[in-house]
Amino acid sequence: MSEQADPAGIRPSRRTVLKAGGTTAGVLAAGGLPAVAAPAAAESTVDSIEPGSTVDITLTVNGQRHRVAVEPRVTLLDALRERLGLTGTKKGCDRGECGACTVLADGQRIKSCLTLAVMRQGQRISTVEGLAADGELHPVQAAFIRRDAFQCGFCTPGQLMSAVAAIEEGHTGSDAEIREWMSGNLCRCSCYPNIVAAVRDAAREVRG
Ligand code: FES
Ligand code: FES
Repeated sequence: MSEQADPAGIRPSRRTVLKAGGTTAGVLAAGGLPAVAAPAAAESTVDSIEPGSTVDITLTVNGQRHRVAVEPRVTLLDALRERLGLTGTKKGCDRGECGACTVLADGQRIKSCLTLAVMRQGQRISTVEGLAADGELHPVQAAFIRRDAFQCGFCTPGQLMSAVAAIEEGHTGSDAEIREWMSGNLCRCSCYPNIVAAVRDAAREVRG
């Protein structure tokens, strides 16, 4: 096959490429460096935080404002459980897979093990401790008891918060839809049929 250059002189031949590569390698071997653009002057600075130091943040949980000092790396889950003593929210996998840590942030369900507490300032956080009001269980809580929708109960706070959100979102039109929209919450005791029945009952009560 010919190694001649493109007649128009646009495309280099294999030989010219190899020659160019050899020249570059030679320059580098001789200690020379190809010219590079000087780095741009730093345009901004980043404040650093000493390891172990804390920041003061305000979290609004179940309608109450709490001022807490946390390391910036602390998850919302750990802030709730270990700083605020709200241990109703459970830690299962601690990596976003089981849904045991589900809480609501401005009405949206989130996995609190996957978000940092410092990112949730200014939002309304709802946990299982805030569901009952005036000594009355929330309809979802009552339905879980009536339908026997838990055994060990470890997943239950997360299931309850997800169920409240699913009902609010209108994702409870059928058992299949309930299963789909509750699928981020796992139950090791496998109470799924009773959970679906409880969510169905509560949805009827809440949405009419
Ligand atoms: S503990 Fe957060 S999803 Fe499992
Ligand atoms: S009731 Fe035990 S994990 Fe769900």
